[in-house]
Amino acid sequence: MKIAFIVGTRPEIIKMSPLIDEVKKKGVNYILIHTGQHYDQEMSQQFFTDLELSQPDYNIGVGSTTQGKQTAVMLEGIEKILLNETPDIILVEGDTNAVMAGAIASSKLHLPLGHVEAGLRSFDKTMPEEINRMIADACSNLFFVPTEESAINLIFEGINPHNIHITGNTIVDACLRNLKIAEKNSNLVSKLDLGENILTLTIHRAENVDDPKRLKNITDALLELNEVTIIFPVHPRTRKNLVKFGFYDSLEEAKHIQMINPVGYLDFLLLLSHSKLVLTDSGGIQEEAITLNLPCITLRYNTERPETVTAGGNILVGTTKKVIVDNVKRIISDTQLYQKMINAPNPYGSGETSEKIVEIILKSYNDRKLIIKPSEEFISHDGWYLQKIDENINVSEYETNNNNSLIRIVFDADEVKYPHPLLSLKNKTVIIDRFNSKIS
Ligand code: UD1
Ligand code: UDP
Repeated sequence: MKIAFIVGTRPEIIKMSPLIDEVKKKGVNYILIHTGQHYDQEMSQQFFTDLELSQPDYNIGVGSTTQGKQTAVMLEGIEKILLNETPDIILVEGDTNAVMAGAIASSKLHLPLGHVEAGLRSFDKTMPEEINRMIADACSNLFFVPTEESAINLIFEGINPHNIHITGNTIVDACLRNLKIAEKNSNLVSKLDLGENILTLTIHRAENVDDPKRLKNITDALLELNEVTIIFPVHPRTRKNLVKFGFYDSLEEAKHIQMINPVGYLDFLLLLSHSKLVLTDSGGIQEEAITLNLPCITLRYNTERPETVTAGGNILVGTTKKVIVDNVKRIISDTQLYQKMINAPNPYGSGETSEKIVEIILKSYNDRKLIIKPSEEFISHDGWYLQKIDENINVSEYETNNNNSLIRIVFDADEVKYPHPLLSLKNKTVIIDRFNSKIS
């Protein structure tokens, strides 16, 4: 069996690394394709070093250009490699342009695709990432979703629940394993000479840093927050725009703000673990914050990680100066709120996600479920039915007894449930999809 991993940017390298380790541990053959979307030493190579990953087998070297051209060059490059390598499954992770290109290339070649971190939705189609996620999910065969909430998003888009696996998020695996290594090996915290009230900050979202009005609001809020020490590893997109819009110098001159280059994973984890709170628009950092019991303030108006907000560990503040400042001050001064935030339960698992994903892939391969070919059976759709179940029966038993039926979704009173095979259906209402032929 051969697995092809595709990565393009910093978070993909980090979140794929525990999966690559697991595949290596199991002795499975794999190749690693880097699209080269991120290429600076501190956005790419330093993660290979920190995470002890071997160098990619291929680097497409796409670099930075327009959205369309970047996607097209990656698509062409990935297609060529996949035609040559014919892997048994391709894995992409997350929502970048590299993910979208990998997903389209794989599905057009009828090669099975597994999407790690599938099903996330911000419901904001102005984000390039939302389009990438939806396209990747439209092309995928196996969906590794972090939570039940993301599974339900997919079900409402018509994805077959049998192909959705709730596994948690590999960020927890990466974060917990590497924090231990960081505590031994990183000296960033002593180098920076950190005091008490550390606020770690990252911003890079296009909708924030490409918009001068939003970036000015955020800059003004940071300048006002002088009761905390702000450590700000600056993403290259952000640095470019801070300079372009003329905000860079005021931030650099502020005594309570330390602007540094993006740091490696070990250094960043140690920085987070020494911080009082984190202010960010990053996806991965919202997940890491709740994993490390660190209060998170998110500089966005929506999030595809709503579980962190409902759990109580994350607050969305948008980009208005006053709202940002007030919330940072509130979290620092309100002990009860602070305690509630650090005690928020982690919705993303306890660090066994990569093990679960690799097991599912190996089982699917052994059951010959990774072979994609046109059906030779006639399939016709009989319709959708809403039904109240009185019997003492679970999802799997119901589907076995009713060969041509697929339980799409379960309603338990007013709660929507993912149709887990062992979920009892007694006294629940279900939506059933019926076919006039056997379905798999
Ligand atoms: C990309 C992803 C985003 C992800 C982020 C992780 C898309 C659409 N966006 O955003 O979802 O959260 O990566 O960090 O895929 N640049 C450098 N050096 C580099 C890389 C980029 O200088 O190594 C600069 C270039 O000026 C480039 C800009 O950053 O134009 C943006 O890079 P790009 O990869 O297009 O998007 P990100 O903002 O990094
Ligand atoms: N990160 C890092 N060094 C930094 C900033 C972030 O190692 O200087 C890590 C962080 O721990 C997280 C990931 O980068 O795992 C998040 O990447 P980013 O915010 O660029 O992308 P997103 O998660 O929003 O797609």
